[in-house]
Amino acid sequence: MKKLLMILGSLGLVILLAACGGEEATDEGVETEEVETEEVETEGDQVFTLEELGEYDGQDGNDAYVAVDGVVYDVTNVEQWAGGEHAPAGGLVAGDDYTEEIEKAPHGTDVLEDLPIVGTLEE
Ligand code: HEM
Repeated sequence: MKKLLMILGSLGLVILLAACGGEEATDEGVETEEVETEEVETEGDQVFTLEELGEYDGQDGNDAYVAVDGVVYDVTNVEQWAGGEHAPAGGLVAGDDYTEEIEKAPHGTDVLEDLPIVGTLEE
């Protein structure tokens, strides 16, 4: 009789352990998914319409963004774009697509090389 009780007890323990193990595996799967979503959001790979880009005019505390060839650059901390205006170029205002204008500028597109890229402009 003692032996039978011991066998039944061991069986119960095995079943209990198996059930707990299964639950842990499911939890891990959910956690991995959440982390991946956060990483994508922090890359700053935003897509702007021309209208949305217009909000980044560098005025009233807004950041200053400009688009060239479909790429959106951050000029917020560029001295020549202080207050969202490009003084040397007669006061061009940030928040617009300047693909054509920059071709006519004496400096060309070299000035874009070190700027932070925020995202792209929707076609
Ligand atoms: C995205 C668009 C940009 C456009 C369309 C643009 C356009 C122009 C134009 C037309 C001029 C000439 C003004 C004149 O000769 O009367 C100019 C001058 C200048 N720009 Fe820009 N610019 C842009 C971005 C930048 C950036 C990002 C910087 C700095 C990081 C910069 C720095 C300068 C400087 C220093 C001058 C005066 C000296 C020079 O002619 O090289 N520009 N810009």
